[in-house]
Amino acid sequence: MTEIQIEGSAHSFPCAPGDTLLGAGLRAGLGMPYECTAGACGTCKFELLEGEVEVLWDGAPGLSARDLNKGRKLACQCRPLTDCRIKLRLDDACLPQAHPIKQTATLIASNDITHDIREFRFGTDVPASFRPGQFAALQLPGVNGTRAYSMSNLPNSEGEWHFQVRRVQGGNGSNTLFDNLRVGDRIVLDGPYGMAYLREDSARDVVCIAGGSGLAPMVSIARAMADAGQLASRRLHFFYGARTHRDVCGESLLEALPGFGDRIRFYPAISSVQESEAQSWSGRVGFIHEYVEEVVGPDIHGHDYYMAGPPPMIQAVLDTLQTRHKVDRSQIYFDRFF
Ligand code: FES
Repeated sequence: MTEIQIEGSAHSFPCAPGDTLLGAGLRAGLGMPYECTAGACGTCKFELLEGEVEVLWDGAPGLSARDLNKGRKLACQCRPLTDCRIKLRLDDACLPQAHPIKQTATLIASNDITHDIREFRFGTDVPASFRPGQFAALQLPGVNGTRAYSMSNLPNSEGEWHFQVRRVQGGNGSNTLFDNLRVGDRIVLDGPYGMAYLREDSARDVVCIAGGSGLAPMVSIARAMADAGQLASRRLHFFYGARTHRDVCGESLLEALPGFGDRIRFYPAISSVQESEAQSWSGRVGFIHEYVEEVVGPDIHGHDYYMAGPPPMIQAVLDTLQTRHKVDRSQIYFDRFF
């Protein structure tokens, strides 16, 4: 066990062998800023003032050339080898809602949602404590590093964690889940993580925007709103952007919730119509950010926005909401993955 001291603060925390600085800090309940936990976003930058760390990913995209010149490192990609003194800015907004736990999880079931999205259900010995919209880092057999997947279910005392995973061509993580893992197999599950969880204290209507494998956290948020009785006072507009008709999903999961069609509305859009599908798709064709803008109309400032999906989709929605319409950033929630 090493001890990490944060410069200029009264805080220090222990780091277990093999744990990252970020994981250890959050497990200790500190407000360590982060988004992706995977070396991509750069939010977890820090300066190492004293001590030695092992860098897990040299060349992680979260660090610019300037950061490297200044000797900055990523807390999610560093394992301390000795006691350390580090410089970073803690942020109360990042205080973990549930402290992440690294534990063994067993695959208990899986079922197909679309031709390339499958739900995997894992069980742990302790309750599944997380906030709807959060994710966990899975360590899979034969796969280097961890893969982040969002939970689609609700926190529960039975210890069930459901993930809806899209098979990525050439993707080691998703292909291992789809092809190699059998019911009864065990993995390491580390979580929960993520800041894009449902804020139940807001009175604003909600817009969920999902694309590709971003379905799971948005479904979890919809389920949480229904479960907490929030749909009596807040409406939910649920958008799903897909490439083609056969990629569209989510409606059957939302249909099971009370208020579907009235308090919950589903708006699917596809970006292109293939010739073979021209007869079967009569819905919207085009970009999801344009669809959102059209549906919420002049009340665009009166909503909270949650989104998960491919980076170009996230960026296009941000451009629409923030740049074009000056929607306050505090009303927009997403975790930045690249
Ligand atoms: Fe560390 Fe994103 S780079 S949290």
